[in-house]
Amino acid sequence: MTTLIVTSSAHGSTREIAERVAEVLRTSQSVETVVEDVAGAAAWLATADAVIVAAPVYEGSLAADARHFLDSRRAELADKPLLFLASGGGYELDPKVREKLESYGPREIAFFRGALVEERLGWLEKLKLKVSRNENYGDYRDWDAIEAWAKSLSGHGVR
Ligand SMILES: Cc1cc2nc3c(=O)[nH]c(=O)nc-3n(C[C@H](O)[C@H](O)[C@H](O)COP(=O)(O)O)c2cc1C
Repeated sequence: MTTLIVTSSAHGSTREIAERVAEVLRTSQSVETVVEDVAGAAAWLATADAVIVAAPVYEGSLAADARHFLDSRRAELADKPLLFLASGGGYELDPKVREKLESYGPREIAFFRGALVEERLGWLEKLKLKVSRNENYGDYRDWDAIEAWAKSLSGHGVR
């Protein structure tokens, strides 16, 4: 029994959340986990009993590579427990993004604040944040909440 955690993470903070979730599942729930970047995740789908997609929100949408994965693998994902972990700079998940995620029929949608680290961003990203007045640089990840969520997953088909 294996849970595949698919990550999209332009700047690494969502990947770190995914790795922490995997560690909690392994150590406290005895769940076998594979954490794989979205680019290589398809190869693991056949052997996965459950799939968690961990991806950030960028400019009002789930990261494009995660959306592409979900759309191109819809049939394979349909017969497995599917869960979402979205991360973002805001306090809550944009209702439009939540609506989109619900269309994939997940068992669970969680949202956690991520990290916005100035040194990791390119000039265009920094400019976009400046223009939209969203220069809230910092690491907002709530590790206790993330770990508590991971521990709650056995009721959602993660095994
Ligand atoms: C250009 C840009 C646009 C962003 N747009 C959003 C957004 O629309 N909503 C949101 O909640 N967070 C937004 N964020 C914040 C990211 O989702 C957050 O920093 C996330 O933790 C990044 O994950 P990563 O390090 O895995 O790439 C944006 C960040 C950047 C740099």
